[in-house]
Amino acid sequence: MTYQTILTERRDSVLLIRLNRPEALNALNSTVAQELIAVTAEADADDSIGCLVLTGSEKAFAAGADIKEMQPLTFQDVAVTDKFSEWSLFTNRRKPIIAAVSGFALGGGCELAMMCDFILASDTAKFGQPEIKLGTIPGMGGSQRLTRFVGKSKAMDMVLTGRMMDAAEAERCGLVSRVFPAVDLVEEAVKVATVVAGMSQPVAAMAKEAVNRAFETTLAEGLLVERRLFHSTFALEDRSEGMAAFVARRPADFKNR
Ligand code: CAA
Repeated sequence: MTYQTILTERRDSVLLIRLNRPEALNALNSTVAQELIAVTAEADADDSIGCLVLTGSEKAFAAGADIKEMQPLTFQDVAVTDKFSEWSLFTNRRKPIIAAVSGFALGGGCELAMMCDFILASDTAKFGQPEIKLGTIPGMGGSQRLTRFVGKSKAMDMVLTGRMMDAAEAERCGLVSRVFPAVDLVEEAVKVATVVAGMSQPVAAMAKEAVNRAFETTLAEGLLVERRLFHSTFALEDRSEGMAAFVARRPADFKNR
C-alpha cells in the first residue's frame, strides 16, 4: 500500500515508520491517523515483522493534532464523529511499537508517543501538552496517559501551563526510557527493536498485554492477568525452547520470531 503522510522502511524484522509532513512539523491530520492505523494493522498481520519503530524528523516527532484541520470544526462535528476515538485501533495493536522522538512532541504528538509501548528520545526532544494555549485540552489521551506516566503534579503542571519538558526531565520523570544523541536516535531505536523482534512474537504480545493491564486495572486483577498469561506461555513451543536453551547453555532458537 502507498501512503501520503508516512514513509515505511523494512530493516529485517523491524518496520520503521516515519511521519512525513515536513511542511506542518508532522502535525497529525486525519490522513496521518488513517495511515498509521492501516500500516500497523498490516504489520500486525505480517509474521515477518517482530517490532515497529515510529519516528518523525529531527526537528519534530509531531507538533500536535493538525490545528488548521481542527480550526473550522464545531462542537457538533467533533461530538458526532467522536473525534480521535479511532486511535484506540492503534493502541490495540499486538506487536510492540517503539516511539523514537526527536524535536517537538507536542499535544497529539506527545500523546501519540505515549500510545506507543515505550519512548526512546533524542537529547533534543521536547514534550508538551500545550492545548490550553489554544483554548482546549488534550484529546488523544494526554490528561490520562501523561498522569499515569509522570504522576499528578507534573502532569497537571504540563497540562495547565502548556510548558515544554526537555529530554533530561522526561527521562528523569519516567516518560522516556532512554535518551540518545539526536544523530544516533533512529539507528539506536532500530537496534532496540531488533532485540525485541528477536524474541518469540506470541510471548512479546503477551508481555505487552500484561504491562498494559497495569494501566487499566487494580493490582490484584493485574497480577491475576499476569499469572494467567505467564501460565499460557507454557503452552508454547518457544517457552520450551527458551528454557531448554538456557539449561543447555546455548542461544534460544525461537520458532515464532
Ligand atoms: N497543526 C498544524 N500545523 C502546524 C502545527 C500543528 N499542530 N504545528 C506546526 N504547524 C505548521 C505551522 O503552521 C507552520 O506552517 P506555515 O509555515 O504554513 O504557517 C509549520 O508547521 C512550521 O511551524 P512554525 O513556523 O510554527 O515552526 P517554529 O519552529 O517557529 O515553531 C512549534 C515550532 C513551537 C512546534 C510551533 O509550530 C507550535 O507551537 N506548533 C503548535 C503546537 C501545538 O499547539 N500543538 C497542539 C495541537 S492541539 C492537539 O494536539 C490536540 C490534541 O490533544 C489531540
